[in-house]
Amino acid sequence: MLKDATAKQVEQAERPLHDPRNSNSNKVETNQQQRILGTPHSSLLVQSTITINVHPFSRILSQNIEPARLDFPSKCNRDLILRVLRFLSTIPCCLSLSRLHINCRSAVLVTGGLGYIGTHVCLELLRKNYHVIVVDNLTNSYRDALSSILRAFSNGNEPLGRRKDLITHISIDYGDAKALDQVLAEFQRYLNILGTIHLAASKSVGESILNPAKYYENNVVKTDRFLKCLGRYGIKNVVLASSAAVYGNLARNSSLDGLKEEQVPIVDPFIAPGEFGKVVSGLSPYGISKLLCESLVYRFATEDPTRRAIAFRLFNPVGCDPSGYLKEAPKDTEWCGGSIMQMVLKTINGSNSMLEIFGADYFGDGSGDGSCVRDFVHVSDIARGLVMGLERCALQRIDRRQPRFEIYNLASGKGVSVKQLIRAIEQECDIKVKTKICGRRKGDVAVSIGSMDKVRIEMGWVPDMGLQQVCQHFCRCYNIGGRR
Ligand SMILES: NC(=O)c1ccc[n+]([C@@H]2O[C@H](COP(=O)([O-])OP(=O)(O)OC[C@H]3O[C@@H](n4cnc5c(N)ncnc54)[C@H](O)[C@@H]3O)[C@@H](O)[C@H]2O)c1
Repeated sequence: MLKDATAKQVEQAERPLHDPRNSNSNKVETNQQQRILGTPHSSLLVQSTITINVHPFSRILSQNIEPARLDFPSKCNRDLILRVLRFLSTIPCCLSLSRLHINCRSAVLVTGGLGYIGTHVCLELLRKNYHVIVVDNLTNSYRDALSSILRAFSNGNEPLGRRKDLITHISIDYGDAKALDQVLAEFQRYLNILGTIHLAASKSVGESILNPAKYYENNVVKTDRFLKCLGRYGIKNVVLASSAAVYGNLARNSSLDGLKEEQVPIVDPFIAPGEFGKVVSGLSPYGISKLLCESLVYRFATEDPTRRAIAFRLFNPVGCDPSGYLKEAPKDTEWCGGSIMQMVLKTINGSNSMLEIFGADYFGDGSGDGSCVRDFVHVSDIARGLVMGLERCALQRIDRRQPRFEIYNLASGKGVSVKQLIRAIEQECDIKVKTKICGRRKGDVAVSIGSMDKVRIEMGWVPDMGLQQVCQHFCRCYNIGGRR
């Protein structure tokens, strides 16, 4: 109910003031659409163009022909168009109404949409009735993630017909401005692109220390190009997946209260290089790259009063969608296979003999059992937060007094030690995970917990799922243990 209400609010906010759907005449059109589409829906209705896919003469021609697409500007009276098409459909051999498909959803551009968080974001968007355009060059994911998303969306059934068309994957580099220009030009002909959720990035702290140039190029330079491209196509709303890595050493000094957004504010490195130097001192190149992305997105949002953006600082995403179809499946296992859940998995399936716990002597730093403490958040909650953020941008765009750029932690505010997490997995999955205590790992902080006060108060986001669900869904997804 709440989700539908938000979608409706965004729909209204996104409509131009003169849109006839703002008046009572709306009812006729909505009913008519529902009759034709067969199902009522609460998606964001497109205002810029309408696409009507028609199979001309489909009754007498092969069913496999490409549908003709007719684009109508929004000002045309859609009601009238529908009536004409209905009339034509009554003439034998002219139009088959059953083949009439009106594309009236808003689309969201998701970069990195086939990765771990991206697949969950795509699923959340599909469930909220958005059309999803995924830009992912598959450097750290596999093409079959797309069918997993559709399968999760169809509750395990083979997705059929139009359901399949709701998500499109384009295998290009998000920093390839020319290719992206083509994609946006093509999609904007018939879809209203509400905004983007920008996830594509390189994400290993360890690799970034060895190869900082890669992180500068793939995360920062390409984000700059990407945002310029969005600007050219009038895409106004941006959600950035930033990281708790921007807090760097602060985590070391923090108590268990949780890190607050204002502890690391946005500093433009070109306007205040000295200040920027202070903020980034001690950060990994990955953390610096994320901070630079935040300032690029900040600049994007503030240079035009109709733009809005949110940078979410994600803490530790864990778990999988409850359906069990979406997995964390990194292609780059050398650098991206090191997340705690991936390590647990490798130990359970035997590819690692023991799970290494890096450091068990952090007692003085706020850890109860000596192992590192992290703020683990279910990945589906993270995905929900990112989508809520995009809808918030779209809603705020109509109110010019609202801030154009915000930073929020996506954190639970609760710390769980590595040892506690392993125990929870053992209990939930009814298995034993062999562990080995090793020395502290370079670059690790003892405690990293985010405050969720700001995101809870201002956005109303709180995690729905706790540690138990994280472990349950993890075991279900990888088919581990007896209890599921
Ligand atoms: N997973 C975490 O622990 C975590 C924590 C904090 C922040 N984040 C951020 O969230 C985002 C998503 O993380 P994830 O865990 O899903 O990562 P992931 O590696 O699983 O997904 C990233 C996706 O982006 C794609 N990609 C990378 N570079 C690209 C490029 N140049 N062009 C097109 N596609 C490209 C990859 O193929 C991959 O599918 C990243 O920005 C990451 O920095 C992740």
